[in-house]
Amino acid sequence: MFDTTALNQQRNFFEGHAAIWLFGYGSLIWKADFDFLERRPAYILGWERRFWQASHDHRGTPEAPGRVATLIRAKDSICHGMAYRITPEVLAPLDVREKNGYLREKVPLTFVDDNGNGVEQSEGLIYLASDDNPAFLGEAPLAEMAQQIASAHGPSGPNRDYLVNLARALQELGAEDTHIFALEQQLRHF
Ligand code: BEZ
Repeated sequence: MFDTTALNQQRNFFEGHAAIWLFGYGSLIWKADFDFLERRPAYILGWERRFWQASHDHRGTPEAPGRVATLIRAKDSICHGMAYRITPEVLAPLDVREKNGYLREKVPLTFVDDNGNGVEQSEGLIYLASDDNPAFLGEAPLAEMAQQIASAHGPSGPNRDYLVNLARALQELGAEDTHIFALEQQLRHF
């Protein structure tokens, strides 16, 4: 399996910073199993979430991969998520956990207030699985993706739970996401 751990440890965009903002757009929204100093709902501009990345090690296996979230560039689109202020040492275990194609990227992020309005900006970090990584699956018909998600299981649990938890977390944030909500609807057929 491809392994991005060593590459990520060279990607020190916030060298010398005591704390950084990590923007979660996938499992990090509902499952933050690391220490953080504070968390705030936020969005990033110019990105859309897609279930286009294979999971061979968490929500699937090498023989029957699952599908998990990554981001694609989409001018003027907004991707909602959760930002965590962390100390830099939190990244090392995340680099290992997300080694199947995700690379650290620096992005501008906007914090959101209780009314859903963007209020302040900061630089942040995301883990991005771009279309040139070996585990990138890309687009497929929605029903095909839902069927794959319904049948895949891995060491972190059923792939289905990943999608359902993500859809629920986005609803709780009051966030719009056409792709995720349509995929979750499709999942009900399987
Ligand atoms: C996220 O929730 O932002 C995320 C989690 C794992 C890999 C990539 C992104």
